[in-house]
Amino acid sequence: MPATTFLSYILWIFSIPVISFVSAEYTWPSAQHDALEQFLYEGTHVTDDNVAGLAGFCLHRALPGGFQPSTFAAEWVRLAYHDMATHNATDGTGGLDASIFYELDRPENIGAGNVNSIGDFKGHSSKLVSRSDIIAMGVIWGVAACGGPPIPFRYGRKDALRAGRSGVPEPQQDLASHIESFRLQGFTQKEMIALVACGHTLGGVRSVDFQDIVPDPSNSSIATFDTTSSFDHLIATQYLNSSTKNPLIRVPSGNMTFASDLRIFSSDRNATMKGLNSETSFFQTCSTLLAKMIDTIPSNVHLSDVVTLLPVKVSNAQITAIDSQLVFMADLRVTFPIDINPMAVSKVRMLWCDSRGQFKNCNRVTNVASLPFLDAADTSPLTDSFNIQFALYRFKVQISAARSVSKFWFEIDGVVHNNGGKGYPIGQDEIIFVPSLGSVDQKFPQPDPANPSEFLPTSYNLVFGVSDTLSIANTFSKSS
Ligand code: HEM
Repeated sequence: MPATTFLSYILWIFSIPVISFVSAEYTWPSAQHDALEQFLYEGTHVTDDNVAGLAGFCLHRALPGGFQPSTFAAEWVRLAYHDMATHNATDGTGGLDASIFYELDRPENIGAGNVNSIGDFKGHSSKLVSRSDIIAMGVIWGVAACGGPPIPFRYGRKDALRAGRSGVPEPQQDLASHIESFRLQGFTQKEMIALVACGHTLGGVRSVDFQDIVPDPSNSSIATFDTTSSFDHLIATQYLNSSTKNPLIRVPSGNMTFASDLRIFSSDRNATMKGLNSETSFFQTCSTLLAKMIDTIPSNVHLSDVVTLLPVKVSNAQITAIDSQLVFMADLRVTFPIDINPMAVSKVRMLWCDSRGQFKNCNRVTNVASLPFLDAADTSPLTDSFNIQFALYRFKVQISAARSVSKFWFEIDGVVHNNGGKGYPIGQDEIIFVPSLGSVDQKFPQPDPANPSEFLPTSYNLVFGVSDTLSIANTFSKSS
């Protein structure tokens, strides 16, 4: 087993005053909130793959042969709209519920972009993070990655287990159908005009999927809605000054049946489009409408409050055993402006109280460990758009079972972070998880011979330590 280095200095000091810092609404731990906050701002959760980072810098998806059809951002925004568009405001069914996973074979959902996006997102959901919450975050990451405004995020979407109704608008339909379609989705005509403009500032129409609109024998081109990949109001400017090459306005094939953006944008004599012709109004309107789009959910589903970025974030706190030693570990993520070197910040200190023995309940002594900056944590495009970075402080300290840990907190340059005055509690310390002694038997990616469409299950060997105060003498292991 590899040697483990412990912090060499554990100091003993008398209790220090505790100052409240974290806002009252959030209290650690909150499993689902913690998972979603991490996913939204770090771009990753269970897999440690920064899925949000794919869209970073408004990147184009590179395909074999160097073909770069569109940006991740554009594909993710379209996927979310197509998932949401089957909402029925009359009976409160459908909406952003990941039913799109079962609807890709419909002509209304045609497009390599939708297939690609589902490939990006599948495999990242968990019991805490639904597929539909990831689709919603995809809009926020994509828009931020392309220079657009922040969009508020709430979590709690529930995933559909089957396809929903059909009804995603298609370009060959007439204006009346589109107005009715958006009404059913819960949007007025003015909101329809603006939402289409907010979506169609990104990406474009692919010849491979829409030959009737963009004829191209090589099947490899994309006609973009405006002349930049960025999330900007050029979609409105170029429409209003007639320089637009939007293929749903000036249809390259010449078949104006497909000029749906022209019919929609001009449907109120350009009043809405004129109102969108500045960065400020475009950003404000799009932030509101895209939030409304991703928050359009079945009426029996309820969303959380808006998830704000936690200035300091605790994760992976645990008491465990490594090399026959009892250790207490906790990670602290600290937010810094991008132009501040975290090295310049003097040490970050973790403080904790015993849960047993003469010093329990912070009686006379408080334990302290300190760490310099070592590592950065992942960020998502949303976090990058705020010009901030994360520094990660990974505490690992030796403790004795006779004293253990009840609660802990942190001090950074004299400012105390203590979970709103409560300290960060260790729920219990009598049964501990010992991952260092466990193992994973990975049969991946081996198909089950009896059922070739299934993969053989991965088996986990989990090891727990049990305190002898529970009268169970030994650590046990159980295979599953
Ligand atoms: C009447 C309504 C709409 C029609 C007829 C329509 C039609 C289309 C079509 C034909 C494409 C080309 C897709 C491809 O080639 O892969 C497209 C792309 C796109 N649409 Fe729409 N759309 C509508 C509304 C919206 C809305 C409300 C949004 C989001 C707010 C949106 C977001 C997008 C995005 C981001 C793309 C670019 C996708 C990419 O480049 O991969 N659309 N739309």
